[in-house]
Amino acid sequence: MIRARIVGTGSTTPKRILTNKDLETIVDTSDDWIIRRTGIKERRISTNGQGENTSELATVASLKALEMGGILPGDLDMIVVGTVTPDRQFPSAACFVQKALNASKAVAFDVSAGCSGFLYGLSVANNAIATETCKNALVIGAERLSSITNWEDRSTCVLLGDGAGAVVLTPSTNDDGILSTHLQSDGNFWNLLYSYDERSKIPEILDTIEGKPFSLRMEGNRLFKKAVTCLADIAAAALKHNGLSCDDVKLLVPHQANLRIIRAMAERLSIPMESVYTNIEKYGNTSSATIPIALDEANREGLLKQGDYVLLVTFGAGLTWGASVVKWSF
Ligand code: COA
Repeated sequence: MIRARIVGTGSTTPKRILTNKDLETIVDTSDDWIIRRTGIKERRISTNGQGENTSELATVASLKALEMGGILPGDLDMIVVGTVTPDRQFPSAACFVQKALNASKAVAFDVSAGCSGFLYGLSVANNAIATETCKNALVIGAERLSSITNWEDRSTCVLLGDGAGAVVLTPSTNDDGILSTHLQSDGNFWNLLYSYDERSKIPEILDTIEGKPFSLRMEGNRLFKKAVTCLADIAAAALKHNGLSCDDVKLLVPHQANLRIIRAMAERLSIPMESVYTNIEKYGNTSSATIPIALDEANREGLLKQGDYVLLVTFGAGLTWGASVVKWSF
């Protein structure tokens, strides 16, 4: 049986740091409230013209992942970008990445699945490798959420940030790699988190970002409860599917939307927080990019060893949610 295995990870975030203190000058909020209610201390914000739009961040993350995996861009058969903030409505961010990498052989496309875009993309690429439709694939989560943030809405603008992460996949015939991907969606709850046609005023201290003519709205409270249940349920289903228990999980790498959501999910799964990777304090919620950035940081910190079981779990607009169990390969 062929399945995909991860052979390289990479990530990047914009240089500019926006702290909670900075946000206090923009909206009626406080460093204390943001840390207490979300766990976020700062986030990264892209600057126009500095090589930090979605596809440019995606390209930098990809080059790092390709280098680690020892795969040349010309050997890629597929590039998938999970994003809700592509540079343009079309062509896809993936096509810009393909051009930048000169990955001429690769089929390139974006996946729009809210914050779950990376895991949805991972599932598509895994299936393509398992069915031998493709050999080497690049799966990216990349966002420039600052461009759609409503900077007058304190209940959302404090949560979001920009960044990108990527993984390189190659075929494995061993018992390692992506053991499963579980995906779910429920459009009935689309109105808990959605984009709408309205440009908000970009505050003076952020005049280096580019705003898009739409912004986002969120019903945080209801979303919070749905997130905890959906994340815990799909993570449990993914473990059960593979005959694993929570004790088998070396590292849980969850979507980073709110530290309280992550803690509540871990508690439901009986996974101790020492086995949960979080970096939300540095980057906030970067949507599709949170999992690949966290996975790359965990990997580069040496937290993952060959044979470790890694549980990836996500939740986002749509609603969409998903989980993947990975047996680490290197
Ligand atoms: N600073 C200060 N006060 C704020 C604030 C801010 N940035 N944002 C909201 N508040 C206020 C509210 O106005 C409210 O005041 P009131 O009691 O006077 O009405 C109070 O804080 C509590 O608001 P509430 O929305 O109940 O807070 P919360 O504890 O639910 O936290 C979120 C808000 C957004 C952090 C939280 O609901 C959340 O993380 N939701 C889910 C996020 C998510 O899953 N995102 C999408 C998945 S990708």
